[in-house]
Amino acid sequence: MEKMSDSICVYTVFLSLLAASLAIAGEWNSWNFFACNINETVIKETADALISTGLADLGYVHVNIGLKLGIYSDAGAFTCQVRPGSLYHEIDDAEIFASWGFSHPLVNFGSKYPPMRDALNATGQDDPALWAGKVGNSWRTTDDINDTWASMTTIADLNDKWAAYAGPGGWNDPDMLEVGNGGMTFQEYKAHFSIWALMKAPLLIGCDVRNMTTETSEILSNKEVIAVNQDPLGVQGRKVDVSGPDGCRQVWAGPLSGHRVVVALWNRCSIAVTMTAKWEVIGLQPSTSVSVRFVAAQGSGGRCSVVVPCSSGFS
Ligand SMILES: *[C@@H]1O[C@H](CO)[C@@H](O)[C@H](O)[C@H]1NC(C)=O
Ligand SMILES: *[C@@H]1O[C@H](CO)[C@@H](O)[C@H](O)[C@H]1NC(C)=O
Ligand SMILES: *[C@@H]1O[C@H](CO)[C@@H](O)[C@H](O)[C@H]1NC(C)=O
Ligand SMILES: *[C@@H]1O[C@H](CO)[C@@H](O)[C@H](O)[C@H]1NC(C)=O
Repeated sequence: MEKMSDSICVYTVFLSLLAASLAIAGEWNSWNFFACNINETVIKETADALISTGLADLGYVHVNIGLKLGIYSDAGAFTCQVRPGSLYHEIDDAEIFASWGFSHPLVNFGSKYPPMRDALNATGQDDPALWAGKVGNSWRTTDDINDTWASMTTIADLNDKWAAYAGPGGWNDPDMLEVGNGGMTFQEYKAHFSIWALMKAPLLIGCDVRNMTTETSEILSNKEVIAVNQDPLGVQGRKVDVSGPDGCRQVWAGPLSGHRVVVALWNRCSIAVTMTAKWEVIGLQPSTSVSVRFVAAQGSGGRCSVVVPCSSGFS
């Protein structure tokens, strides 16, 4: 298995210095850390912690269940944990959730998605965009994440394939964040959060926010990375260049509002490497002059530096 040394460097490249005003909405979900072991105390303490840690101010305002109420259901007869789902009761359940004041029902199409995908594939129509956008604002594109580097990188790559179908009102969901759950290093969690943000994935915190380390809080609170995720242009960034053994030197990039581009130099190799993002792979003309801003991996553990030679690219 690959091990990362010097994980990720994320930059925004400003083609002009117009900053956009950004709408932010984030969430916390109990599943990745607590699974089914939730109760009133956990939910209340989590809501309190989102406020006391400042995460609520950064936009993490949906607690599934909490501040602005979110709730989880399933489009099938049962949820993945065999709790009742909404199949054949979709309208009743939607009305009940609304009457209870839930502003963000999170309905899981996971249990229906594989058979539906297979059925559609059989007819030559296996694109989620052909149906998911009509039934939800986001749709899971992959199997469940787990708290490992292998799972996170596999899922990032799978979700990348569906980039063309994401946009305002309908997002690819590569599953919730594992940041803070202990199975990856600080650098690996930074890469996880940065790539999820760049892919415009719904940012659902999945750890115990009542008991976060400083490092976890630092990652989840990076305002500029959150702003990349919430950018109003709403274009999912993609893997645009790979090189090195097993394609471990990766450049991910995507356009942002205000004549800006976000670029991530993602080192998935087992050693520190020098990486270069060439202008043409991030969609710029050779003669473009830019200003570059470093938005992630700064501070402890960050070993990124930026060199911008005239009109060719940076590393
Ligand atoms: C609530 O759930 C948490 C986490 O699973 C557990 O530690 C705690 O003991 C539970 N409290 C009650 C009152 O059941
Ligand atoms: C769809 O079916 C083809 C042919 O059987 C297969 O190669 C492909 O992987 C399938 N795609 C998905 C998304 O299941
Ligand atoms: C986590 O996901 C990886 C990659 O999909 C898989 O190989 C591994 O078996 C999973 N681990 C657990 C504990 O489910
Ligand atoms: C808080 O998290 C640490 C690991 O960062 C863990 O060792 C400890 O048991 C947790 N405390 C509680 C009360 O869950």
